[in-house]
Order: sequence, then structure tokens, then C-alpha cells
Amino acid sequence: MNGDTTTEGYEVERCGESEAIDEESTVSPDAEDPLQIFRMPKKMKLADNVKNSDEIISKNQRFWRETLQNQKITKVLAPMVDQSELAFRLFTRKYGAQLTFTPMIHAHLFVNDGTYRRNALALVKADRPLVVQFCANKVDTFLAACRLVEDVCDGVDLNLGCPQMVAKRGRYGSWLQDEVDLICEMVSAVRDYCKIPVSCKIRVRDDRQETISYATRLVDAGATMLTVHGRTRDMKGAETGLADWTRIRDVVEAVGSRVPVMANGNIQFPGDVERCMEATGAVAVMSAEGLLYNPLIFDDANAHVETWKIAAEYLEYARDFHAGTSAIRAHVFRICHHSLLEYEDLRMRVSLEHRVEDFENIVEELGKRARADAEAGKEREVEARKLFESIRLFKAYCII
Ligand SMILES: Cc1cc2nc3c(=O)[nH]c(=O)nc-3n(C[C@H](O)[C@H](O)[C@H](O)COP(=O)(O)O)c2cc1C
Repeated sequence: MNGDTTTEGYEVERCGESEAIDEESTVSPDAEDPLQIFRMPKKMKLADNVKNSDEIISKNQRFWRETLQNQKITKVLAPMVDQSELAFRLFTRKYGAQLTFTPMIHAHLFVNDGTYRRNALALVKADRPLVVQFCANKVDTFLAACRLVEDVCDGVDLNLGCPQMVAKRGRYGSWLQDEVDLICEMVSAVRDYCKIPVSCKIRVRDDRQETISYATRLVDAGATMLTVHGRTRDMKGAETGLADWTRIRDVVEAVGSRVPVMANGNIQFPGDVERCMEATGAVAVMSAEGLLYNPLIFDDANAHVETWKIAAEYLEYARDFHAGTSAIRAHVFRICHHSLLEYEDLRMRVSLEHRVEDFENIVEELGKRARADAEAGKEREVEARKLFESIRLFKAYCII
């Protein structure tokens, strides 16, 4: 890869070094207010690639190790399409997440479609450290996408874990693991030409040794951190099953002295973070579904708050940080999953409503009913005790 390589026609215009980011942006990523939302501009210009000095490469190489250590980061919110949006990232940070990932962004669209780029990311200063995750299968596209965000986040990540058919058709995610040379070329290009560190999120392979050599090749290519999801590519849908932490340990033992390894999979209950770190030797633990169902899972002190209260608080973030309807709907469904099973009418309303206030009303109603049911439960318990007591007295009377 050399400085003037341009194998693909980008909508993003090429320009001189001094004009890297465009004038259309309304808010600077350095805005004073840490909660001021920044969106990527629709029109951007990208300066020609300039090779990183050895000093920058080694600074990036050390970045995640030092950041995780210095900030004592062990709890990480996973990248989730439509679910690790800005509002949810900030909400989970309040309850213990210390590092967050954006949802996966399509590098090709991000580079070539200004509207997609503007909608793909909402950022605030308070949400740092932050990793922007891409899927890609072309060296130049991945590099261009990474360079477009190099001033607004702390690291970029390549999604090598998505097992879905859409990823198979699009040749990305875990389906790219069959093309390790290409992956390594993409990673090395970002190491060599992007200002910020590149990491990879992988699944374990079918074979132990294969997983180890795969991880080692990624690190050799320049990955500065690895997230290892302890399930194979076939473990999805009905076959999801449990993540195998011993397979994550293999990777930690193989490359953990060179780059930080984060463990992913099976974080379901408070206390699992510690159990997982102990079992895998990983420096940090990433959670996806566990946090969706219980966004307070990282916060041992608060892990048992009623779900409708959690949903109500999430909705405040959703309102303030402009979460999209589908993200909000999915969060409310998951957070209130168990209580919604009780109230079919409310469940139906969650699937039909669109505005934040509608979801707020549903959650408020859920709270009222849950409280009323709890009260009724208590009353039934008192009645039952009274009945039990009178039977006991009656028996005692008969004996006398
Ligand atoms: C709704 C949803 C969306 C996801 N989107 C992404 C994604 O954008 N990028 C990615 O690498 N993994 C994605 N994943 C996978 C998770 O990041 C994670 O690897 C997986 O769910 C296993 O972790 P868990 O056992 O904690 O759920 C997604 C998972 C879920 C449930």
C-alpha cells in the first residue's frame, strides 16, 4: 500500500493535507459541551494517505494496553446493530460500561454515501473511549472509512464475527475469516496509514490451533487489541449455545502478552465479568445480549432494579440523544421482556407505537400494573396467612 494508491472511486473527495474534514459539519467534535451531539458531515474530503512514522505505529500499538490499564477498564459494551446507539451507550456507561463500541457500520456506504454517513454515527465527547466498528472487504475502503473517523473516536474495529446470511452475501463478518490474507492486508493498511489504533472482533474457529494461528496472524498484521467471541460461526440462531471460555483462554495464552484480549460471550448475571476474566485470563469482558436484557448487569449494586424503572430511564436517554424508533422499540421489548409477557395489550402497543412519549406511556402503565399486581400479591398473601391461622386455631379448638 503506498501513499497515492486509490483503487476505488470514492464519493469522498481527495484533497490536500490541510483540508481533511469538511466545512458542512455543524458541531465540532471538540465542542465544549460533553453532551453536544456531533454527526459526520455529508460531504467530506480526504487527504492523500501518508505513511505513519514508526513512532505513531508503536504509540498506537501500546494505546489499548495503556488505556485499559490506566483507566482500569474491564467492562465493555459490545457493538450491536441498531442497539449500541448513542443513547444506549451513554445509559450503560452510567451503570458501569467503561468502553463502548458503535454498531457495525458498512465501510463502503460510509465512504460513498453522505446521507448514510451522517446517519450512521452520533457522537458526544462524554462517550469516550469509543471504538467505531466497520465491516469491509476492500483494503482501500476500510482504510478510507477509518481515516474519516480518526479525529472523532479512539479506535477502529473490523467486524470479523457476524455469522448472518446477509454477511455471507456481503462477504464480511465471520465469512471473511476464510480470507485471512485479505483481512491482514486491511488491518496492516490501517496500522500504516490511519492515526488511530485498529482492533478486530473475531469468533473462535472450529479447531483450537486454527483459532490460535488466526489470532496470531491478526496481531502480526497490526491488530492492537482483539475481542474473542467464544462461539464458532455455526453457533447462531437455534444453535447459539454457550460460548466456550476455554477457547478464549487459548487466544489469551497465545497473544495476550502482545495485545489486550477481551472476552465475549455468556455474560448473563452480575458477577459473570469476574468469573469470565478469571476463566479466560482476558483483560476485559464485553457483553451484548446480557446488557440488552439488563443494562445494569455491570453494576452489582443496582442489578435488581425493576425493569420498568430501567426502561423509563433508558427512554430519557433515548429522548435526549435522539435514538431511532426501531432501536427504542427493541430496547423496551428486551428490557421489559418478562413483564410484557404478562400484559399482551402493552406488548402489542410496543410493537405498534412510534414516538418516545408513546413508549414512555407504555412503560409508565407497565409500572402501575406491576405495582398493583405486587400489592394484590401481598394482599393475597395476607389473606392466605389469615386462612391458614384460622384453620390452625380451628384444629386446636377441635382437639381441646
Ligand atoms: C442485536 C445484536 C446486534 C449485534 N450487532 C453486532 C455488530 O454490529 N457487530 C458485531 O461485531 N457484533 C454484533 N453482535 C454480536 C455481539 O456483539 C456479541 O458478539 C454476541 O452477541 C455475543 O455476545 P453476548 O453473548 O454477550 O450476547 C450483535 C448482537 C446482537 C444481539
